Amino acid sequence: MSNVEVHWHNHAVSRQERETLNGNKGCVVWFTGLSACGKSTVANLVDHLLHKLGKHSYILDGDNVRHGLNAAPKMLQEVHSEEFSKRFGLGFSAIDREENIRRIGAVAKLFAEAGLVALTAFISPYRVDRDRVRKTLPDGDFIEVFVDAPIEVCEQRDPKGLYKKARAGELKGFTGIDDPYEAPEKPELRLDAGVKTAEVLANEVIEYLKSKGKI
Ligand code: ADX
Repeated sequence: MSNVEVHWHNHAVSRQERETLNGNKGCVVWFTGLSACGKSTVANLVDHLLHKLGKHSYILDGDNVRHGLNAAPKMLQEVHSEEFSKRFGLGFSAIDREENIRRIGAVAKLFAEAGLVALTAFISPYRVDRDRVRKTLPDGDFIEVFVDAPIEVCEQRDPKGLYKKARAGELKGFTGIDDPYEAPEKPELRLDAGVKTAEVLANEVIEYLKSKGKI
């Protein structure tokens, strides 16, 4: 649509002024990994530790965001037209996951600009989608955290019974089973989630943020 004109406005309050007030830097801590690898658990623990330290953070989490901003077509249909639901509702095809990550990336960037440590916990299986978000942020502000647990461990945990359904062929296109997961090649941090506890891993993230002067 070449006739659409949109312009960028600078804010009256700068990002630096917000960060000074908050006492921490804004950044995006992007957790990625298989379903049930522990992303949300670790991200929530980090959020809690930051809060206790008096730092300002907020968490965006796969299952919650898919209830609102990135709701599925079926959920949107309750209040919107069928066409609207089809166009803007998101599922788990490659292109829907791409849009899921794009929207979350845009929101996380806004949080970072507001001087928050934005914690995101999404499978985000495609390298290109994660790298696209990285490119929207200044150098050092996108902290990719690979929550690395072997699929056997995730499958054994299976808190929602989805691996079981996927193995039985009742759920198609499930990440790690019949849909790809592209592990980060050079994440800022790799967490050994098959071996260490979530508490130990959360502390590793906190130490990283301290070492980079974010908190
Ligand atoms: S992502 O791939 O687009 O990043 P996201 O993190 O938002 O996924 O959602 C993943 C969660 O949705 C999983 O933890 C699981 O509970 C649920 N889910 C439902 N269908 C699928 C599927 N086909 N593949 C992966 N996760 C799925």
